[in-house]
Formats: sequence, structure tokens, C-alpha cells
Amino acid sequence: MTGFDEPPIEITNNQKLDSDELLMAIKSRRSIRKFKDKDVPLEIIKQIIEAGRYTPSAKNSQDVSYIVLDNKKEVYEKEAVKFFRRIKPIADIAVKHSKEVTIDDNFFFKHAPISIMIVTKDKISGSLAASNMALMAESYGLGVLFSGYFSDVANNSLRLKKLLNLKQRDHVVTTLVIGYPDVKYRRTAQKEAANVRYL
Ligand SMILES: Cc1cc2nc3c(=O)[nH]c(=O)nc-3n(C[C@H](O)[C@H](O)[C@H](O)COP(=O)(O)O)c2cc1C
Repeated sequence: MTGFDEPPIEITNNQKLDSDELLMAIKSRRSIRKFKDKDVPLEIIKQIIEAGRYTPSAKNSQDVSYIVLDNKKEVYEKEAVKFFRRIKPIADIAVKHSKEVTIDDNFFFKHAPISIMIVTKDKISGSLAASNMALMAESYGLGVLFSGYFSDVANNSLRLKKLLNLKQRDHVVTTLVIGYPDVKYRRTAQKEAANVRYL
């Protein structure tokens, strides 16, 4: 194919995934909401984004982009917290379990060292990229939280959109909150049997 700056990567036969290891990695993955005070090296952040970049996109549009929130994370979190606190009284009436949720100053990022927002028009392409990125992050011993809440605020608060320099048509599919876990899960979470039909 022409039009690309980088050459294709040679695919050799010895690049085989271990099925048991892969399935165990998927099964044992948990949301992490408590992180160590330890930075994530830039090289690792780049590899996580590389996993997103190589994820397929609809019509090969490759229109997924990434915003890494690092040093100025608190500025965006503060704005998101303000927005959430403002709408909380309405949510308490309209949304189940909302009353049980307390919005502290670190409600969205949980003191994690970085967050990566995934921005795209096509939600499926963005979600697929996010999933591969999360798996990649975990391969480096990192923990991940998919922050639906922060993404919701980024999509709905004009002030936060402006702060993040997001365009009107940009859609934040999800936000990966990433850092070294300060919690260890001893068991997998139990799941319902798969709802599947073989026809
Ligand atoms: C798309 C998506 C959005 C989520 N958003 C949030 C969030 O904003 N805050 C949060 O604490 N957990 C969030 N979660 C985590 C889910 O609550 C969690 O994955 C689920 O309860 C299962 O727990 P586990 O990930 O530990 O297996 C989100 C998960 C997904 C997949």
C-alpha cells in the first residue's frame, strides 16, 4: 500500500499468542481504583498508544486520537468535579444509586499518574482501541480503570471541552485511568454464563 510513512512490519511464524495465558489475562483483569505514587515511563505510554494505533478501525479510517492527561490532569479533574457536583441533585432524583456516590476531589482519576482519553467519531473503533490499550497496559503491570464518568463530562461540559481543546464534533469514547495498582485482587470476578445461541 502506498501513502504511509512507515514500512510494513514483517510477520514471522514465531509470534504466537498463548491462548491460556491470554484468556487468563482477560479473566483476571479488574478495575483499579487505587494507584501507587509512581510515574508511568513515557516509553510505556507510547507502547500503549501503539496498541491503539494498530487496532482496526471501520473502513480503515484510523480516525481514533488520544489525549494523554499528565501534569495538568488536576486542572481537568477539578473542572469535571465542579460539573458533576452541579448536576448531582438532579442525578440523585433521576439515577439509581446516585445518592450513594460521594464526589470527592479525586473522584475521576483516583490519584493515578496518567489518563488517556480516546477520541473518535466511530464508537466501535474507539472502543476496540481502548480494549487493546488496556490489555497492553496490563502487560506492563499497570492497572486500568475505564472512566465512563469522566468521558461523559468531557462530552457534555462546554467548559471542559474548551479546556481540553476538543472540537464540537469530537466524541470521547472512554478514558483510561492508568497507573501501578496499589491493590491486589486474589480471585477473578464471577460472571454469568454466556448468553449464546449456536444456530
Ligand atoms: C465502559 C465502562 C465505563 C466505566 N466507567 C466507570 C467509571 O466512570 N467509574 C468507575 O468507578 N468504574 C467504571 N467502570 C468500571 C465498571 O464498574 C467495572 O468494570 C465493573 O463493575 C466490573 O468490575 P471489574 O472491572 O473489576 O471486573 C467502567 C467500566 C466500563 C467497561
